[in-house]
Parts: sequence; C-alpha cells; structure tokens
Amino acid sequence: MRAQVVIIGGGPAGLLLGQLLHRDGIEAVVLELRTRDYVLSRIRAGVLEWGAVETLDAAGVGARMHAEGLPHEGVYLAAQNRGFRIDFEARVGRRVMVYGQTEITADLYAARDAAGAVTIHEAEGVTPHGLDTDAPYVTYTKDGTEHRIDCDFVAGCDGFHGVSRTCIPKSVLRAFERVYPFGWLGVLSDTPPVSDELIYANHERGFALCSMRTKTRSRYYVQVPLSDKVGAWSDQAFWDELRRRIPEDSAARLVTGPSIEKSIAPLRSFVAEPMRWGRLFLAGDAAHIVPPTGAKGLNLAVGDVRYLHEALLAHYSDGDDTGIEGYSDRALARVWKAERFSWSMTMMLHRFPDQSPFEQRMQETELAYLESSVAAQTAMAENYTGLPF
Ligand code: APR
Ligand code: PHB
Repeated sequence: MRAQVVIIGGGPAGLLLGQLLHRDGIEAVVLELRTRDYVLSRIRAGVLEWGAVETLDAAGVGARMHAEGLPHEGVYLAAQNRGFRIDFEARVGRRVMVYGQTEITADLYAARDAAGAVTIHEAEGVTPHGLDTDAPYVTYTKDGTEHRIDCDFVAGCDGFHGVSRTCIPKSVLRAFERVYPFGWLGVLSDTPPVSDELIYANHERGFALCSMRTKTRSRYYVQVPLSDKVGAWSDQAFWDELRRRIPEDSAARLVTGPSIEKSIAPLRSFVAEPMRWGRLFLAGDAAHIVPPTGAKGLNLAVGDVRYLHEALLAHYSDGDDTGIEGYSDRALARVWKAERFSWSMTMMLHRFPDQSPFEQRMQETELAYLESSVAAQTAMAENYTGLPF
C-alpha cells in the first residue's frame, strides 16, 4: 500500500490533519491503536480558541459546533469567596467556544467516513521506518497480519504515550518537563451549569473549576493530592468539597446530581524539541502537554496541524519546502507561549503542598491585581482566547 502521508493517531490532531489534507487532495491514511468507540469514550476539555473554531470551519466540520456549542465572551476568576469577570470581548474583541473534544472527534470521524478516507483501527505495533531517508514507510499489525505502507511523510499524532516521539534519536531529542504535585478530580453530571461562564477558583483548600458541556451537562473539577484514589471520592464528598471552594453565592446555586463520569488526571507541562526529524513531524500531545488550567491542549494541537497542513500543501502544490524546514521552530514558538500561560495559570490558582502563607498571599494578590487592571486582564484575555497563528 502507498499513501502520501501516514498519520499515526486518530485523535483530534490526526483527524484534523487528515481532513485538511483530504480537502486539498492530499491523501493520508490514519493508523489508530484503539477502536473507534474507545477513542470516542474519552472525556476531555472543551474550550476552543476562536482560531480553532475558524480552523474547524475551514475543515468543513464546524456545523454541529455552531449548532450545539456555547460561545463564551468571558470567564470568572474567584478567590476569598468572591469572583470577578474577565470580559474577552471588551478586552480583545474575541471569544471562545465551549464544545466538548469528544464531539469534535466524532465530527471529524464522520467527515472522514463521508470522504471515504482510510482509517485503520486497532492497528498494533505501528512502527515508522526510514524517517531519515526519502523513502520512509510504516509497518503495523492488524488481526495478526503485518502490513506496510510506503509514504512521503509520517505525522506523529499519537499523543503523549505514542511511538512517534521515540523515533527521534536520543542524541537529537530534548525534553522539558514539570510534573505538578497534585491532580484534578473531575465529575461529569447531567445538571445545569452553576454559572453561564466558567469559574476558575483559587482556595486555600485547593483549586476548583466549574465548566460545562451544554446547558444541561456540567463538568466540575477539584484539585486533589496525587495519592487520592477516585474510588475514595463519593459524589456527595465531591459536591461538598466543590461548594467549599467556590464563592458562596455560586455554591448556593449549585445543582448536584449523580456523576456520569468521575476520574483523576495528573497535571504536567512537557515539551519535546524538535517537532520534526527527517520525514517525521510531531503534532499535538505527541510533542507537548500542558496542565489543563489554561484549556490549551486541544488548541495547541490545532495550531500544530495548521502549520503542518500548510507545509505539506506547499510541498505538494509548489515544491516549496520552506514550511517543512521551518515547521518545528514555527510550531514551538507558539507552543512555548501557551506552555507559559498554562504554567502561570496553574501557579496562580493551585495550592502547592509546601506553599507558605506568603505564597498564598502572592496568589491572592495576583488575582486582585488582575481584577483591578485592564492591562492585566487584556494580557490574560489575549492568551486565553488564543495568540495569533
Ligand atoms: N499507534 C497508533 N495510535 C496510537 C499509538 C500508537 N502507537 N499511541 C497512541 N495512539 C492513539 C491514541 O489511541 C489516541 O487516539 O493516538 C491518539 C492520540 O490522540 P490524543 O491523545 O487525543 O492526542 P491529540 O490528537 O494530540 O489531541 C490532543 O487530546 O489528550 C488531549 O488534552 C489533550 O486536548 C488535547 C488533545
Ligand atoms: C473542561 O470543560 O473540561 C475544561 C474547561 C476549561 C479548562 C479545563 C477543562 O481549563
């Protein structure tokens, strides 16, 4: 078998790249380790920068997002039992779209099926070969039979635990990482959201976040120690802790109900450099991870894919390889800015195990400065709604 591009990973990054390439007549095969149902069972964040919204529209998969998504023109930050709003529209003239990543992935799979593009699920032992030659190929096993796909390029969109990043020689790869000493306990519930926009709360007991998927489905998080087990948290214990950490007026409005999903996720900042090696390009979580505090994970994957799509299109349509040569530096420049923002939001909003009273005051004062300063709010709004591509 032969394909111009082999995409390893059928998550948002891989599927969006496949869709953008297909629309330009560049055929790619997606090799996905898991079943379609497994991929679509993942619960992930759902805040889209408007640039990501426009990219999904350009990919022809924005219809359901605009029909079911929730445009948000601001966000609430809270500390010491009171909250204040950052008005994105007033500060930077942009907004965000709240629309679950699971839905985006489903929309991308539907488009891929409609296009008749090749997606191979349960592809095991995916292994790129000859990445430092002009004739790379990828092997994999499906139902016990080994297959080979010859190609021009390989897109590593296989997430943090994928195979692609390991194909870059250790002598070339540089990794930057910070693991945070806490996790997020998340609950999904079919209850109306406590607020019309998200609430990020700093509290001395720990961080809390009130988010949503729709007007009838809410997503909440509380910071927990890494030693906590999700089984030890009853729904009631979760709701009680959430109420303690958000402002009283919000807590009084909170509508609780049975959790339909409950899990604990660790927080990590991670960047791998370079994002290209020979005919291999990394995109999305395969190259970088952000703590979810800035809602940047999916948005960074979209940015990488935009750059990679542009580079591959220039190669195939004009024989112009400046995009390919410049992909890693261009993508990393934007990745690092989002890493900084996500790290700074995490440092401002979470309680660290060894945090001193002085450091708690610094967090509270940073929030107070944000509340009082148009300049500070503009900077926050610029980062949260998305830096330019
Ligand atoms: N071979 C084939 N597929 C693989 C392999 C492999 N060796 N390893 C992983 N995969 C698949 C996973 O099953 C997954 O479906 O690659 C896909 C990677 O998807 P994601 O992990 O969702 O990463 P990405 O597409 O970059 O999307 C980034 O997802 O994890 C969130 O917070 C993150 O919102 C961000 C978004
Ligand atoms: C979510 O809705 O899951 C969500 C929203 C914003 C974040 C993180 C997660 O920063």
